[in-house]
Amino acid sequence: MGFPVIRPRRLRLTPELRSLVRETTLAPSDFVYPMFFNAAIDAPRPIKTMPGIDQLPLSAARAEAKRIRERGVSSVILFGLPKTKDERGSSGLDPDGPVPRAIAEMKSAVPELVVMADVCVDEYTDHGHCGILHTLPNGNVEVDNDATVEILSEMGIVYAKAGADVVAPSDMMDGRVGAMRGALDGAGFTNTTILSYAVKYASAFYGPFRDAADCAPKFGDRAGYQMDPGNAREALREAALDEAEGADMLMVKPALSYLDVIRDVKKASNLPLGAYNVSGEYAMLHAAAASGMIDLNRAMLEVLTSIRRAGADFILTYHALAAAELLGG
Ligand code: PBG
Repeated sequence: MGFPVIRPRRLRLTPELRSLVRETTLAPSDFVYPMFFNAAIDAPRPIKTMPGIDQLPLSAARAEAKRIRERGVSSVILFGLPKTKDERGSSGLDPDGPVPRAIAEMKSAVPELVVMADVCVDEYTDHGHCGILHTLPNGNVEVDNDATVEILSEMGIVYAKAGADVVAPSDMMDGRVGAMRGALDGAGFTNTTILSYAVKYASAFYGPFRDAADCAPKFGDRAGYQMDPGNAREALREAALDEAEGADMLMVKPALSYLDVIRDVKKASNLPLGAYNVSGEYAMLHAAAASGMIDLNRAMLEVLTSIRRAGADFILTYHALAAAELLGG
């Protein structure tokens, strides 16, 4: 007598059985919706490389907050396009800048919305780098880590004062999480949460974002501060440092080419873990769908499920509102 055939397909017979045994689920509350506020525009301006995503005027902040909440999405992360830029990114410290104003408007329209602010100077510097530049004795120009950390800490306080629930340093300078925690606590913002972009790779998939936020570096690249795509053990060192410095939540970015890293960081740390499904990943799906190669809605949910399955507790994604609608939000 042979063995009976083991039949895993029994569990796939009906939608109800499949949903009973599904290991990974998606909900609108898993998403953080990234938004771009431009201080110099009066009407939404479509971003060519990111179909469905606009730069927004500040006058749209209140209505957008309500629309997002109505879809069941409860978190946003804000980026700003200022009116002026300089070498030091000074407009990033302006309490009337696009991000502090958008934070205040959105929080007053929908107080329960979790409003996160990306903290980095690249949107505010005229050279587009994520820090203050200095020239080394050999003539090379480098981003000055410690001078940049001071500015980032001040930015964190400006955003906390405006009402941000979460500040999210995305610059990859060393020591910025500890410095920012100290600065926030010193200014009385002990409840302001730090979501660290702990593991951020120097990636080609940020291309469309650099149009969206007008922050492409004018010379060189970001490989001197963002991580090398070949490194996974280094991700664990970065995550451990940020945890030790007081980060409340960690993030891996990008998501899709780094699902293994998401899994590794999830195993190594007990902090909540986010993953950033970045602009290039979003644009790729839309481009493939527009040329009839894939079904956008199915691919979107599959991609987001894969990021959660790898270990992300939440996902920063431009698909947030469309996916929430598909999920019935
Ligand atoms: C830096 C920042 C970047 C992104 C988020 N924060 C760009 C970069 O590092 O060049 C990219 C996000 C995306 O591609 O969706 N402030």
